[in-house]
Amino acid sequence: MDAAELLGPTGPLARRVSGFAPRPPQQRMAQAVAATLEEGGVLIVEAGTGTGKTFAYLIPALLSGTRVIISTGTRHLQDQLFHQDLPVVRRALKIPARVALLKGRSNYLCLYRLQATEQEGRLASRAQAVELRRIRRWAGRTRSGDIAEITDVPETSSIWPRVTSTVDNCLGQECPRLEDCFLARARGAALAADVLVINHHLFCADLALKETGFAELLPGVEAVILDEAHQLPEIATHFFGRSLSGRQLTELARDTMVEQARDAADFPELRRRAEALESSEAALRESLGSAERRALWREVADQAAAREAIEPVDRRIEPVARGAEGSGPARQGIGKLPSAHRRSGATIAGIDGGGTPAR
Ligand SMILES: Nc1ncnc2c1ncn2[C@@H]1O[C@H](COP(=O)(O)OP(=O)(O)OP(=O)(O)O)[C@@H](O)[C@H]1O
Ligand SMILES: [Mg+2]
Repeated sequence: MDAAELLGPTGPLARRVSGFAPRPPQQRMAQAVAATLEEGGVLIVEAGTGTGKTFAYLIPALLSGTRVIISTGTRHLQDQLFHQDLPVVRRALKIPARVALLKGRSNYLCLYRLQATEQEGRLASRAQAVELRRIRRWAGRTRSGDIAEITDVPETSSIWPRVTSTVDNCLGQECPRLEDCFLARARGAALAADVLVINHHLFCADLALKETGFAELLPGVEAVILDEAHQLPEIATHFFGRSLSGRQLTELARDTMVEQARDAADFPELRRRAEALESSEAALRESLGSAERRALWREVADQAAAREAIEPVDRRIEPVARGAEGSGPARQGIGKLPSAHRRSGATIAGIDGGGTPAR
């Protein structure tokens, strides 16, 4: 049976899904996904809600025999796919594919930090102490360490940062709990999986090298299926885009004025330029209109207001600030300005030269 037949009236799904009825659009999609997995290339599918797109890509993915990453829009959908849809299809097809679920680091309990927090004993509130005890009890029975499992500690609780790790505080290979580390185990399983379920945030974070975990396995992956792909541009923009806000410009202008008054009263030119920056920032904001407060750089780059706002930063403040720094006694504040400025300057240069959509 091919992918479409498996979704037909006599297929294995018909017997296992209650209320099953063959859906031609679903079958067509399954066929198209199968063909793309076979031949390579890019396929974009758009079909209405409830079409049954999940089965339409899961079946060909499992049949393909290739290593596939499936990325969903949210962690919630990731859980649903992994714990509900994937097992149904896997059982129906009787395919012994190795499947794994991988989330970002902050979704996994860190046993080392849990113990450290318990030993330190200084908690923000009584409620936190209760939550910590719940986490400890759950830690003894969880196999994944995925904090989505625990329902009686809210996702928003401030206890979580204390019992999960970040790239900065993770002890890595030095950790005494490395053997039991939930994150390390999840990553190990991800490396060995035929079908790996991740989410778009993790996908982008990893590509942007903000988080590692499956980057090393990407070369071995033959196909990536992005469910809810319409959410990807927004998430990708967050990770890969550069942005410049009016606030950054205003702060630079204000800081320049403060430092000029304190450090470089003999450089009134600096103040004049900072004022010019402030007013061009206001003009830029006005040019965006009152409803849409953000715009893609490529849409505004040609506008005079945008040019006006960027120019003072690039060419007017930096040289004068440097001049002021080099000309007087100890001018500490001014000395720091160019480097603070350069940070915005780099942002601006990136937007200006690269044409990257920025928000
Ligand atoms: N052929 C079918 N007959 C009956 N039910 C089906 C069939 N295929 C899928 N379903 C069920 O239909 C529901 C919707 O499927 P699914 O979540 O895959 O839709 P979708 O196309 O991804 O929609 P959305 O765009 O909202 O994500 C699920 O409960 C699924 O089990
Ligand atoms: Mg769907």
